[in-house]
Amino acid sequence: MNIILLGPPGAGKGTQAAMLVEERNMVQLSTGDMLRAARSSGTEMGKMVAGVMDRGELVTDEIVIGLIREQLETAKADGGFIFDGFPRTLAQADALGELLDSVGQSLDTVIEMRVDDEALVSRITGRYTCANCGAGYHDTAKKPAKEGVCDKCGGTEFKRRADDNEESLKTRLMAYYKDTSPLIGYYYAKGQLQTIDGLAAIDTVKASIDKALSDS
Ligand code: AP5
Ligand code: MG
Repeated sequence: MNIILLGPPGAGKGTQAAMLVEERNMVQLSTGDMLRAARSSGTEMGKMVAGVMDRGELVTDEIVIGLIREQLETAKADGGFIFDGFPRTLAQADALGELLDSVGQSLDTVIEMRVDDEALVSRITGRYTCANCGAGYHDTAKKPAKEGVCDKCGGTEFKRRADDNEESLKTRLMAYYKDTSPLIGYYYAKGQLQTIDGLAAIDTVKASIDKALSDS
């Protein structure tokens, strides 16, 4: 099953994708994670996108479509792909359709995670991840069982994203409403859209996604 998790910054796409990977053997394709990996390994492309990402603007379609193309052609995903943070423009959505066609696959459903803007500020400013394994946490909504120790790998170093501040969030939200929200109509018209309440607690959101997947 191939699905898109669609939603504004902080909607919970990465949090839910990580659980789907564990439980359903799916592969998460997060263009945000791929771009951050390119930055930390210091590639030319990584250097080129750093400023754009920190300001909260969108990287070019060409770069992100190239990243997804590479993954679709090489990654093995018995449980299917979760597209997290991709597509983000109509051009990316068209490209994804063509890429899936070219590898003999199709899209099963698009899950729109709806969250109020006010909730996003605290989600974004409270977010941190394990520096060793990347597991995601939040200052209040999702703390590790033992303070300062990662539940997954026992790591004790954590980090925060450079774009997780109110200024950059404003730009990211503008980009979402201007360039990405038209995808809601695009997939609705194709009969592929399901909308869930992303404001609920993490487990409740997960239950809504499980239901959306069994309905599709
Ligand atoms: P990207 O990494 O995709 O960031 P984003 O879309 O802004 O989304 P986030 O990762 O911030 O949020 P999320 O929905 O994954 O939330 P999370 O689960 O972490 O992109 C970053 C940048 O890369 C872009 O700005 C752009 O520059 C570039 N880029 C990436 N893809 C691109 C593309 N396709 N085209 C062009 N440019 C691209 O949750 C957030 C926090 O909330 C966590 O702390 C979590 O613990 C907590 N939380 C989660 N769910 C809940 C809940 N239900 N209740 C309470 N707290 C919760
Ligand atoms: Mg994310």
